[in-house]
Parts: sequence; C-alpha cells; structure tokens
Amino acid sequence: MNLLSVDDLSASDMHSIFNLADEIKKGAFFSVRQGTSIALLFQKPSTRTRVSFESAMARLNGHSIYIDVNTSQLSRGESWGDTAMVLSSYVGMIAARLFKQDDLIELAAHSSIPVINALTDMEHPCQALSDIYTVRELHRGGIKGARIAFVGDIAANTANSLMVAATKLGAEMTLVGPKGYQPNHDYVRLARKYGKVELTCDVKSGVVDADFIYTDTFVSMGQEAQAKKRRKLFAAYQVNSRLLGSARKNARVMHCLPAHRGEEITSEVLDGSRSVVWQQARNKMLLEQAIILYLYRMERNGVL
Ligand code: CP
Ligand code: NVA
Repeated sequence: MNLLSVDDLSASDMHSIFNLADEIKKGAFFSVRQGTSIALLFQKPSTRTRVSFESAMARLNGHSIYIDVNTSQLSRGESWGDTAMVLSSYVGMIAARLFKQDDLIELAAHSSIPVINALTDMEHPCQALSDIYTVRELHRGGIKGARIAFVGDIAANTANSLMVAATKLGAEMTLVGPKGYQPNHDYVRLARKYGKVELTCDVKSGVVDADFIYTDTFVSMGQEAQAKKRRKLFAAYQVNSRLLGSARKNARVMHCLPAHRGEEITSEVLDGSRSVVWQQARNKMLLEQAIILYLYRMERNGVL
C-alpha cells in the first residue's frame, strides 16, 4: 500500500493510524523487523519531515537512508523507474519529497515496496494526518464537526491534502483566499464528495465560525520566481491579531511550518496563546511512526 495522496486512505485507515499514534503516545513500543530501512528521497529542502521520519524510524528500531536527489544518479538522468526498482531491493519503504506528483506516481509504479508522499507540488498527506490528529486532540468532540478555515494560499499542497482528509473525517472546511484566485478544482470536487467546503474571499466572514484557522507560506517551494507577485496577492490574508479579532475567542491558529514571520503570519500570533503550531510540529514524529507502522503491517500481513 502506498500513500501518494491522502485519498489513498479510507476514513477507517486514518482512524487506525490515529489509534496507533495514541498507543505510541501512551508509551506502547512497536518495532519493525531488525534491519528494515526507509529511503528518504528528497528533491526539496526539509527540516521537520526529514528529521521526524528519521527519528520515527529509529524509534521503531529501523534505519533511515537520506538521499539528496541532487547528489544521486537521478541528477544525471537515471529514470525514476530504474531508481525505484533498485531501491526496492535495498530498503523496505521509500518516503519521497519531489517537485512533481507525477514523478512520485512514476516512482511508485516501479516500486515493489510502499512509497510515501513526503510532499509534492500537489499534496502533503503526512502533514494533513498530523494536523488532523492535532485537531482531534484539541477539539471537543474530536475531528467530526470541527470547522477549519484555511487562509491564504488555498491552492497549496497543504490545503489540498487537508481539505480531503478533513472532510472525509467529518470536519468542515472554509477556503479563504483572494478574489480571482482559485483553489484546485479537482481537490475541491473530491472534498465536496465527502463533506462541506465553502469558498470565500472575505476574511472576516471566512474565519468568524472557525474552530481552527490554518495558514501556510504564500510562496511554496518551487514558486520562488513568483515570490513578489504572491506576497502582494496574499498580503490581505495575513493571520494577525486583526484577523483574530473577527474570529471566535477560542479559535486556534495552525501552521504547517516553516513560518515566514511578518508575511503569512505575525510573530505575535505565531508565539501567542492561540497558536498550536508547536504541538502540530511535535505530532509530526508521532504520526510518521504511526504511518510507517501502518503501511509496514499492511504490507506484511495484508491486514492490521
Ligand atoms: N511542515 C513541513 O513539511 O516542514 P519541512 O519542510 O521542514 O519538512
Ligand atoms: N506549501 C509549502 C509547505 C511546506 C511544508 C511548500 O510546498 O513549500
């Protein structure tokens, strides 16, 4: 089983991953077979995802091998398919952070081991799982019925994965972005099959009912050439104390990090009492453990 898109997981798969995370959090110890390795094939920078995967694998008694795409033979033209076939005979799993989702799909098509999306241009499923786990911890009643407003770049990889996973589990999404700027229609259509997704360009009405206000960078990796244009386009969508003034008193602020203080979020809000971003970041390692373990068990037994 692969995790290329968050939609590869059913609601029941996600609940099983969260239950595993709960058990690990309570102190249960799980282990992969001694000598099991995961290849971390990364084409873009990373702090959290790389380190949380490496630590997660160590905590499961496994081993990680970090491969910078730029210093691998991929940089000299070896194909994703050939790379996948070779890695499949060395390691038990691959987590790949690539520019293009299509390259990830190509890699997975030639792999005989589970492949995990560690972020592409279209999705960030592991992030969505740890964010929803965080919502589940904080929201009375769990994820079901939680109202999440995504503010800013509503077409980002994080928004795509979050809206699909959240609606599948019974949360409601509001996408708040500038006039004329559209989220990815395929993801909105998919998420609307599962639940409620509203779109608005009005910040005030977009956040007024939210239990969680989520933001991400205005300039994702790979979009550096559009940085100036994007900063201008999204400026009015900064998560700051004025925006929080339109929200419920107990609305929490989320950010996948890395934050660009003073751009999509102010330091005052990021470091303030309503921010849960550090809890989100901590949960990443727990969820990477649960994701690895879940896919590992599915691969070995066909059932959990
Ligand atoms: N949130 C996240 O994926 O962070 P990194 O880019 O540091 O991995
Ligand atoms: N949307 C961001 C997420 C970073 C974790 C990016 O792709 O750069």
